[in-house]
Amino acid sequence: MPSLLKVLGISFGVIVVVGVVVGSITWAVLATRPLPPPELKPLDWWENTIIYQIYPRSFKDSDGDGIGDIQGIISKLDHLVEAGVGAIWMSPIFVSPMVDFGYDISDFYNIQTEYGTMADFEELVEKAHNLGIKIILDYVPNHASTDSEYFKKSVDREPGYENYFIWADPIITNTSDRQVPSNWISQFGGSVWEWNEQRQQYYLHQFAIEQADFNFREPAVRNEMLNIMKFWFEKGADGYRLDALPHLFEANPNDHNGTYPDEPLSGDMFVRPDQAGYTTQVHVRDQIELYDVVYEWREVADRWTEANETDTKILLAEAYANISMTMLYYGDENNRTGAHFPFNFDFITSLSASSNARDFVYTILRWLTYMPRGNVANWVFGNHDQNRVPSRFRPNMMDGLNSLNMMLPGVAITYQGEEIGMRDGYVSWEDTVDVAACNQGNPDNYLEFSRDPARTPYQWDNTTSAGFSTNATTWLPVGLDYMELNLQAQREAERSHFKVYQALTQLRKEPALSHGEYHIESLTANTLILVRHLRTYDTYALVFNVGQEQDVVDLSTVSLLRDPLTVYISSIHSNRNIDDTIPLEGSLTLTAGEALVLRGSPT
Ligand code: NOJ
Ligand code: MG
Repeated sequence: MPSLLKVLGISFGVIVVVGVVVGSITWAVLATRPLPPPELKPLDWWENTIIYQIYPRSFKDSDGDGIGDIQGIISKLDHLVEAGVGAIWMSPIFVSPMVDFGYDISDFYNIQTEYGTMADFEELVEKAHNLGIKIILDYVPNHASTDSEYFKKSVDREPGYENYFIWADPIITNTSDRQVPSNWISQFGGSVWEWNEQRQQYYLHQFAIEQADFNFREPAVRNEMLNIMKFWFEKGADGYRLDALPHLFEANPNDHNGTYPDEPLSGDMFVRPDQAGYTTQVHVRDQIELYDVVYEWREVADRWTEANETDTKILLAEAYANISMTMLYYGDENNRTGAHFPFNFDFITSLSASSNARDFVYTILRWLTYMPRGNVANWVFGNHDQNRVPSRFRPNMMDGLNSLNMMLPGVAITYQGEEIGMRDGYVSWEDTVDVAACNQGNPDNYLEFSRDPARTPYQWDNTTSAGFSTNATTWLPVGLDYMELNLQAQREAERSHFKVYQALTQLRKEPALSHGEYHIESLTANTLILVRHLRTYDTYALVFNVGQEQDVVDLSTVSLLRDPLTVYISSIHSNRNIDDTIPLEGSLTLTAGEALVLRGSPT
């Protein structure tokens, strides 16, 4: 039978050749045609936002009393928009005798008069929301001021309030007078136990004497906390930063024959017997029961969001704890979820001016390694409890550190002033007001404990009180360097920390940053590289010399980088300018602290 091919006059050999040729062309075309850009999964509002912490007392004073206030914040919302932040977290603005500057709340449902009124708060929420800025409040569940109605009623043993706080009988032996129930030491020094004459019992306080710890084993307390949470949700708060969570519970006397067990001594020779850390704190921190409470709050917040069809209400856990106890705040192995994230304090607790690039890489990867799958990372560089960033590290590292903050995956957190590189203020012993320092009663080492230097007023410009207040006297003195170091000067300068910060907050919108993969490694002992990349989109890489000397690196070994590489952002002392080309081959010399954000072609 004559084959069809023969009839058509084409030999089999020709068919094969043509087939192979056509096939190869198709293959070649397919292989070189770029794949479509990856789909960018829509993110919830908080998942890659920038949260800016405001310490209200020190941000902006609108009425000349030398104390920051809510109208002051409203008057500076334009700064937050210019800076490019997505949310503000305000340290407590509720009624308080201010022993711990607002962390001792006496009325959880009202605004401290020196900060403003409920109407001011409502105005702030409305104006911020109109500008696309979310409002996160500080939630202080662990303790209340001894001035609060809760505490007074508990002292009076008013029905329903008897067990609102942790009350304990004294220990009396036939050889001694009244003694405290255990050797536990408060975070601010001295015993956690304070005698109350009227009740003839001790109450427990893990912080100042005026901050009595709630009893979280009392259902009425748990319930009241939920009421407070919902109250401010209703007022428009978009979430909470949850204060001092490791301290929510202490060892349960029911597990210890009805007594409060003493803690073993830590053996730390540098800690005095009346200072926290003298004992191991095994009975006063990280008690496992506390996580149930956090998971319950998350459920309540989620249910509230759902029922009211609002944007997600977020919960951020403040916990200085080891990595495992910290990660439990995200949730547990039984699919219970907790905070949207616990603050990542690693840049505060694990890194300092003496860290090298390997320390940085190791510390960063530690968080990303331990974080349970599907969660969002976050990066904290400073807050109102810690020395400011340029003082803890070095001033020439400010831009590099802000770059890390903005370029690492997840949420970036900025403490007010970091965008302009504010340093610790100088506060003399006479001017010191922080209870943590005053309690030491010792002018010799107060600076070791004082949080005042991180709380001096924001430096807006070079006028009276740095533009913070029209009053020449402010609640804490203005930093001595405000004439040179202030926002106004940095807005006008050609290069400044603020301009770098603005460029970084814009950069975060790039797909490689919002959705991309990360790669981080140390190129040398002192220089690290962080690459953010996402197929078909431009790649961005941070090269940062964290050391104190010039360093030479070789980028050609970083396989994710593609020519041409250009400078996208450079730290203020760098002599490289935007759009300078950086050759991939050859060596790159970086001065101490120099940070470059490079843009490269897609990988
Ligand atoms: C943590 C807060 O950040 C700090 O300022 C405060 O003193 C303690 N919690 C007690 O509320
Ligand atoms: Mg004021």
